[in-house]
Amino acid sequence: MKFRNDFLWGGATAANQCEGGYNEGGRGLANVDLCPTGKDRSAVITGKLKMYNFDDDHFYPAKVAIDMYHNFKEDIKLFAEMGFKVYRMSIAWSRIFPMGDEETPNEKGLKFYEDIFEECHKYGIEPLVTITHFDCPMHLIEKYGGWRNRKMIGFYENLCNVIFKRYKGLVKYWLTFNEINMILHAPFMGAGICFEEGENEEKVKYQAAHHELVASAIATKIAHEVDEKNKVGCMFAAGSVYPYSCNPNDVWEATKVDRESYFFVDVQARGKYPNYALKEMERKGITPTMEERDKELLEKYPVDFIAFSYYNSRCVRTDNNDDLAEGNLFASAKNPYLEFSEWGWPIDPLGLRITLNHVYDRYQKPLFIVENGLGAKDIPDENGNINDDYRINYLREHIKAMRDAVVLDGVDLMGYTSWGPIDLVSAGSGEMEKRYGFIYVDRDNKGNGTLKRSKKKSFYWYKKVIASNGEDLN
Ligand code: BG6
Repeated sequence: MKFRNDFLWGGATAANQCEGGYNEGGRGLANVDLCPTGKDRSAVITGKLKMYNFDDDHFYPAKVAIDMYHNFKEDIKLFAEMGFKVYRMSIAWSRIFPMGDEETPNEKGLKFYEDIFEECHKYGIEPLVTITHFDCPMHLIEKYGGWRNRKMIGFYENLCNVIFKRYKGLVKYWLTFNEINMILHAPFMGAGICFEEGENEEKVKYQAAHHELVASAIATKIAHEVDEKNKVGCMFAAGSVYPYSCNPNDVWEATKVDRESYFFVDVQARGKYPNYALKEMERKGITPTMEERDKELLEKYPVDFIAFSYYNSRCVRTDNNDDLAEGNLFASAKNPYLEFSEWGWPIDPLGLRITLNHVYDRYQKPLFIVENGLGAKDIPDENGNINDDYRINYLREHIKAMRDAVVLDGVDLMGYTSWGPIDLVSAGSGEMEKRYGFIYVDRDNKGNGTLKRSKKKSFYWYKKVIASNGEDLN
């Protein structure tokens, strides 16, 4: 009942949710800086409300986040103490290219990440780098309209050229786009897209998706050319979709909703647009404009591995019942067999085994779980300790399910990075008090607090899990 010896245990963060320092070191403004907390967040991240500048009526949590910009040494030291083998993090594009379309990168930004990677290696931690985790320089949005514009491919290519060369020998695991399928659900946060009155939003989203898919293939090509040791993965928000009943209508609906996410991985892993997507796009009149060389690029440069986030399974029904459950960025039918987190997300450990099997059956490539965890409110006890047994229970059950998929089903899994090993800003709600960490950060939803780090009970538990290579889950 064992994981392989080189199994990569660790944790995952994203620049915009932890770094802060939004205007330091020559960094340019990015879409993710402008997503406020509160009632307007949803309209902003979905591209319905244009927010291209800060205003006094909103609080923007990414400006400071947990200030990892100034604390990364202390934070990586804590990750090392837990025994991390890998640390998944992302690069803020606008630190390297503040505007996005410059020729020359910002040396201070490059150096910042170089220092982080060196710090990781000091402890034998392998960095796993997401090239873009939802972020896009604002200049590229204002001047070019974000990923709806084909020119974005070239700007992304420049970024890849620079970082692959500069970090050769320091980084060998790369992810091209975080949760690439989120372009469908949060197009401003995911791809810098705001919609104009009356335009066909679906058409815009799939055109932008096409640009990202081509950019991802180009990234894989360059990564391999620069260093044959580089391994490049795609990354999508996973979670198998269950039919609410065995009514064939429910089953067919579940297949269709599953395909909305698999579409991206079908292209990135198999190297071409699947027939079902081509047919549907044609029917709806939303087939993206493609260039001659795109087909060849997609075919020649598929990803080496498939990474995904898993928080919950999803469920669909066709009987017009609108009893919905929340979930990672979008809601689906409420599954009566499951329990739910404080934020209403279903908790379904077996769903992780099911998802791992579905994805592996479909692609037959190595998989990597790069996000999984429980967002919860943590209340310190009278001694200031956080006994987060609820988090330990959640993770224990998910790790067990993952172990079953590996050991009993033979799924080829490279590693597991839990989401937010240190408390950070929530992507969906912008809250700080939706915590995932093993490490508590003293900061609240309004930006109050000392930013002091302290270890939760789960810190010691995860340390044991890693030390025993997943055998000791008690
Ligand atoms: C994924 C993202 O959507 O889920 C992360 O890749 C995000 O950036 C995570 O933080 C958890 O979602 P939330 O909304 O609880 O932060």
